[in-house]
Amino acid sequence: MKITIMKQTNTMEMEPLTRGIVLFGATGDLCKRKLIPALHKLWEKDLLPKEFLITGAARRDVGVDAWKKSLGEYPEEFLHQLDYVSCDLSSQESLNKLPETDDTTYFLSVPPERYEWAIINLKQGGLLDDPETSRVVIEKPFGYDLKSADHLQSVVERHLREKQVYRIDHYLGKDTVNNILATRFGNVLLEPLWNREYIEEIQIFATETIGCEGRSQYYDGAGVVRDMLQNHMLQILALVAMEAPCRMDAKEIRREKVKVLSATHLGEDMILGQYETYRDEEGVDPDSNTPTYVAGTLFIDNWRWKGVPFRFMTGKKMPYQCVEVIVKLKAPPLGLFEGETPGRIVMRLQPHAHLDIQIDVKSPGLGESVELATLTHRYPDWLGVDGYEKLLYDAIEGDQSHFVHSEEVIESWRIVDDLLCTGDSCPIRTTPYIHEVGSWGPHNETDSITNWDYPE
Ligand code: BG6
Repeated sequence: MKITIMKQTNTMEMEPLTRGIVLFGATGDLCKRKLIPALHKLWEKDLLPKEFLITGAARRDVGVDAWKKSLGEYPEEFLHQLDYVSCDLSSQESLNKLPETDDTTYFLSVPPERYEWAIINLKQGGLLDDPETSRVVIEKPFGYDLKSADHLQSVVERHLREKQVYRIDHYLGKDTVNNILATRFGNVLLEPLWNREYIEEIQIFATETIGCEGRSQYYDGAGVVRDMLQNHMLQILALVAMEAPCRMDAKEIRREKVKVLSATHLGEDMILGQYETYRDEEGVDPDSNTPTYVAGTLFIDNWRWKGVPFRFMTGKKMPYQCVEVIVKLKAPPLGLFEGETPGRIVMRLQPHAHLDIQIDVKSPGLGESVELATLTHRYPDWLGVDGYEKLLYDAIEGDQSHFVHSEEVIESWRIVDDLLCTGDSCPIRTTPYIHEVGSWGPHNETDSITNWDYPE
């Protein structure tokens, strides 16, 4: 099938738009839970071209009707735009069955070990020949460690142009994560404070109350460092610490992120943990040493941040579900008032996103003491566009600003690589400490890192 749709621009010239998306791994969980609902939302908002073709592709020959049925309830008009093709990314020949559209996005929601052959076969099958009208979206993880990410990147470079590659980190699709740049650079209020002169330390939390939720087969081979730290946490760190880009476009934003990540390194106080019921979960190796919790410190060796600790903590089965950045300001040079507490800026990214600025104000009454007051801006809860909705829209539109550049991904793996090694040669202890379910990690070890301002 060949579909041609044209969008009218302001100048009344006709400009081509993406005509279709092929979702590889269409019978999988991500497709059902995230991708189809996100495409449906875009369709509802009229943000997809009317005859945009959504093709599910997977090895199993389930047939189009059964596939559509497996996705859940959707309006007939939306389902009309869906098709299903049974094909195998490891066989170039079977890719010939895919529909030919003028401009196509290929979404790889398949196990990461298949990325290499997917890229080679899509390219050699002629589906990614034109860098202007074809692109590939790659789910995380891009690689398994620094070495494998380097190898995968060399395959990508041999076959594709960087402008065709959209590496997903779904946190970059979250409005509240993107709001970090808006808050920092949309006004001058924070910038004079945002450096080693005024900031004591920064704490970044991404804590979850859930466990593996049926994903243990993947998770037990990955662990928290690959699952959360190498990507989501380091992306948040980059947005908090980067310099202002000279333009809000993909090239400039990503250039600044690469710069800050390449100045970042781990401190020596890393703690890996595992919640105590993890090994009892179905699909988890009963002797598993996979960490489900990590806390520690990152340092950024540049003029702005040298010496400022960026503490981080992320894990599953913790007391609170929350993603939050806490910027702890230094105390004033002279303590003039009783009751002084150094100020803090808190960016709660989820749930119930808000920005708090906490400063001392005079306590009412005759004395001269002060107390902490909080100025809060709450974001409406409906603001949270699902990450995938934004990212699919951007990929289809050809905007890479919220996708991860090859150099970012390589720098991120370099930063965490020491935490991934096993065996005696490892510079830090990588056997996890067991901690109670619903606790903030292995107590004694975690407490030794810093005074955590646990989210509440
Ligand atoms: C995913 C991880 O990338 O992010 C999951 O694989 C984790 O393990 C999830 O639960 C957290 O995402 P969110 O959007 O719920 O914060």
